[in-house]
Amino acid sequence: MPSPSEWWRSAVIYQIYPRSFADSDGDGMGDLPGITSRLSDLRDLGVDAVWLSPFYLSPQHDAGYDVADYRTVDPRFGDLGDADKMIAEARSLGLRVIVDLVPNHTSNEHEWFRAALAAAPGSPERERYVFRDGRGEDGSEPPNTWLSVFGGPAWERLPDGQWYLHLFDVSQPDLNWGNPEVRDEFVAILRFWLDRGVDGFRVDVAHGLIKDAELADWEWGGDVILGGLTPEGAPPPPMWDQEGVHEIYQQWREVLNAYEGDRILVAEAWVQPAERLARYVRPDEMHQAFNFEYLVTPWGADPLRQVIDRTSGANATVGAPTTWVLSNHDVMRHASRLGFSDGKDHRNGIGVDDPQPDAPLGLRRARAASLQMLGLPGSAYLYQGEELGLPEHTTMPDDFREDPTFERSGHTEVGRDGCRVPIPWEADSPSFGFGPADASWLPQPAAWAEYALDRQRGIPGSTYELYRSALRLRRERSLGHGTLSWLDTPAEVLAFRNGDLLVLTNFGDAPAELPLGVRVLLSSEPLTEDGRVPRDVTVWAA
Ligand code: GLC
Ligand code: MG
Repeated sequence: MPSPSEWWRSAVIYQIYPRSFADSDGDGMGDLPGITSRLSDLRDLGVDAVWLSPFYLSPQHDAGYDVADYRTVDPRFGDLGDADKMIAEARSLGLRVIVDLVPNHTSNEHEWFRAALAAAPGSPERERYVFRDGRGEDGSEPPNTWLSVFGGPAWERLPDGQWYLHLFDVSQPDLNWGNPEVRDEFVAILRFWLDRGVDGFRVDVAHGLIKDAELADWEWGGDVILGGLTPEGAPPPPMWDQEGVHEIYQQWREVLNAYEGDRILVAEAWVQPAERLARYVRPDEMHQAFNFEYLVTPWGADPLRQVIDRTSGANATVGAPTTWVLSNHDVMRHASRLGFSDGKDHRNGIGVDDPQPDAPLGLRRARAASLQMLGLPGSAYLYQGEELGLPEHTTMPDDFREDPTFERSGHTEVGRDGCRVPIPWEADSPSFGFGPADASWLPQPAAWAEYALDRQRGIPGSTYELYRSALRLRRERSLGHGTLSWLDTPAEVLAFRNGDLLVLTNFGDAPAELPLGVRVLLSSEPLTEDGRVPRDVTVWAA
């Protein structure tokens, strides 16, 4: 039975990227015991829940989003006992746990795919995936023109002549969701983790499971970061946002509803416009869907006001909250993304030879953006390290890159490694306290010492203390459950009320006035001497 609390409507959920959060054994790879040992730090920060990116058995060709066994923990991260301990520790700290579910594709090392390769064309084993004969006289051309999100063709040919579909890496064959066996298996996987006590699932590529029955040609690639957002001028994509996905989530919702507690589904669906995305969070489907439209909106009063209105308006028509997000493991960290004033989106990542972001500007705006986001009604996701003001690693030598995008795009896309670097906890320890050894699977920039948690905890004005204060006030004032009303302001100022709280951001050069008589509770940077709000600053006042 759904509980009346509906915690997820207002929750702040912290994304843990297991490879890069905390390493317990010094192998340079984060792990579950590391996470368990650091959960109390997240309780202190003041979040309600954690979401963990995949920690299941995987050859790690896409950092664990290529799952070989959905019921086994990868030995790099620990074992099932470690997962149980992590869940139990979270519960005892009052934190909920959301795990990642990857239903669009398996790893090519999954037993089903191995069986499919060993079986003949037309066999039931191949029916679990999307196998087709090729085109052309000898079938040597792919079955259609689809491109992989990571670059290159979306089809791979086998020695027996058949092709299989992979919307992502060649090691990630797409499952056939028209096959009831696939549906049954994922219901069983949901139950496996629900029985272990998880509070929900973040559903990877939720808009991709069903493909157009004809597999009609479509040659526009989605790039990694905006995977699934239709490029301008392209017809509707036959692989994204098909009507058939919704009955899958309706079935899953019934599975979750049969469990006690308030278990949730959150969609990773790069779908536009907002009305289409809202269909994923209708009352009998998922609970949340990441608001990526907000994430990609350029820094400015007008575009932000529009996107906030448009997306919350669309969700309101189905009774769903909005799920705000500024960073995750697929996009450039917002402390760097906002550090460009060139009007470009830099969505392909930043390499050492590319123009570099203005770090102080990026941090200043990131703090203002986060304070604005945390003042909005609804739920919000934080990505590990953003509470430290951590920037992207934008000067990583190419030799270290692991994101399959880099190779598959012929090095034209830098990829996502820059936001996945192990985070700094202690300025003066090996690997900045990420683990006991001086080992880290991606290199940490030397400058990251200054971002370490132990340099910021208890320091007034630090980014960490800014987040902590915001989360405390957000809870005290039930901001997540509030309602938003806009204030009349000059064009370069954005201001709204959420209950008694005033949230004001100044995007313009001229310092902005606060209404008379309000008391400033929190500010992303110091105000001017006469109490006005400088450029790129957000203030909470009441
Ligand atoms: C999602 C994940 C991303 C992964 C892709 C393929 O977009 O967030 O990291 O590469 O799906 O599973
Ligand atoms: Mg380790």
